[in-house]
Amino acid sequence: PLPVWLDCDPGHDDAMAMILAGYNPNITLLGISTTHGNQDHHKITRNAALVLKASGLDHLRIVPGQTKPLIRPAMVCPGIHGETGMDGTFTLPAFDSSLILENEKAVLHLAKLLQTMADHTLTLIATGPLTNYSLLVTLYPELHCKIKQIIFMGGAIGSGNWTPSAEYNILVDPEAASIVMQSGISVTMVPLEVTHQAIVTDQVIQELEIRLEKSPFCTLVIELLLFFKKTYQEVFDFNQGPPLHDPCAVAAVCAAELFTCKNMGVHVVTTDGPCLGQTVCDIYSKTDYPKINVATDIDVDGFMSILFDSLVQANIN
Ligand code: BDR
Ligand code: CA
Repeated sequence: PLPVWLDCDPGHDDAMAMILAGYNPNITLLGISTTHGNQDHHKITRNAALVLKASGLDHLRIVPGQTKPLIRPAMVCPGIHGETGMDGTFTLPAFDSSLILENEKAVLHLAKLLQTMADHTLTLIATGPLTNYSLLVTLYPELHCKIKQIIFMGGAIGSGNWTPSAEYNILVDPEAASIVMQSGISVTMVPLEVTHQAIVTDQVIQELEIRLEKSPFCTLVIELLLFFKKTYQEVFDFNQGPPLHDPCAVAAVCAAELFTCKNMGVHVVTTDGPCLGQTVCDIYSKTDYPKINVATDIDVDGFMSILFDSLVQANIN
């Protein structure tokens, strides 16, 4: 299995990404770091601990990361994820603070971890703003060789979701995204065009209820998904169901065969104005923008199948 680190901001879809990363047999999840993002850093970090406990992944530890973007003020989106960042469920376990390594910092922890590794080993996945990884690659250029790849959920080839130009994770810390894309490390972007295909339809909910046998964990998962469905309906007029953005980035690592990718130049707009946070994708190779892999399509049935398998495993544990 591929050694993997997950940096996230749970977040309803981040929670699903954590469970997929924790249980997919093709990867070994070594740990989790948290960033600011969907809610403030404190709430996000607490949510990450709750997810680990609820899903039987409490052998893992959470390392707190940066509490704000590199140079901009922090942003949150309660309209999508609620006041807690993971609203909608009454089935969460008791909070266990021992799962959080309060005295450590994500960037330093990751640097120490990378120092123990052979070249080209660790895969870094991000499902929130890229602040932590941007600092890691800036502070420790000598450790780039240890990183196999960086895969993140974020960006869009076309329209954004938070502004007409920008996707949320990139808009929150565009400078960080730009640094990661220019790092020279192999980077894969999993944009909205892909994640908007991974919809939690009513049929998906029904299948989940059967596979998870209406257990308390099943109730938790369904409650989270239904809250996400409600906000996506209110905010984006998505009537089929909410998109599972973040587990797509994990799936692009543990089941790469489910994705179509194209290598292209991508530029992140970091100047204020209507295009701030846009990921300008050079589909026709007209520029010398840094080249990254951009996922352009996903096998949705295959994706749901591995996600369900991981949820079934979490249900057993
Ligand atoms: C991204 O923004 C967050 O709200 C989600 O967790 C996801 O990572 C989608 O734009
Ligand atoms: Ca997220």
